[in-house]
Amino acid sequence: MKGVILAGGTGTRLAPLTKVVNKHLLPAGKYPMIHYAVRKLAQAGIEDILIVLGKQSAGLFLDYLGSGKAWGVRLTYRIQEEAGGIAQGLSLAEGFVAPGEKMVVLLGDNLFEDDLKPFADRFNRQERGAMVMLKEVEDLHRYGVPVFLQDSIIFIEEKPSTPKSGYCVTGVYMYDSAVFDVIRKIRPSQRGEMEITDVNNVYAVNGELRYGLLTGWWTDAGTFDSLREAGEKLASTDGDER
Ligand code: G1P
Repeated sequence: MKGVILAGGTGTRLAPLTKVVNKHLLPAGKYPMIHYAVRKLAQAGIEDILIVLGKQSAGLFLDYLGSGKAWGVRLTYRIQEEAGGIAQGLSLAEGFVAPGEKMVVLLGDNLFEDDLKPFADRFNRQERGAMVMLKEVEDLHRYGVPVFLQDSIIFIEEKPSTPKSGYCVTGVYMYDSAVFDVIRKIRPSQRGEMEITDVNNVYAVNGELRYGLLTGWWTDAGTFDSLREAGEKLASTDGDER
């Protein structure tokens, strides 16, 4: 199983800080934000990780992460030149993830407490398809929200005004290598981005989208409020290990 961390994007909601440094290098607790995604994958036993970066601050990511040796992983880097959306960033992992292989994908600004290992193990046993991690939240309109029929996700609505469930789709996803063909088939949304929700909906409509539930704290640290919240959570639950 391979790991992919998406750390491009301009971070406009964290401007003006993001005018000088990429969002994923901002401090969250004791470390730059990117630290946690690498550590989560390493702890789940994933040793080969691709980091998709924008051009901004690319050298600083290398300064901090290097080869990944300090985390016991091997890092590969690719540059996403345009801000084309999460699915466009993920398309750059084709080749790094070989046909027939599976991957865990993390959005670099998603910080959370749960251990991914049990979910990755479960996905490894899943013959094909995809898996999304869900979290019960209040501010549903900010996220992708699943629509359930009995116990299955039949569709995900992106930033709905009337959410159909109490869960958001977090930025923790698992895919088989068919995801690259799926990405080729989708088109940019109204906001001009290749949406990961459109990718997940292809799996959902085919009955191949499973889910897991995060039970610990979770936050998308893309705004000042959520970044501060993440810092507080990390300060109270995070150990000293790398
Ligand atoms: C993205 C996804 C959304 C998901 C969220 C999690 O939203 O499109 O479905 O719930 O990440 O962080 P964005 O951050 O692009 O608005």
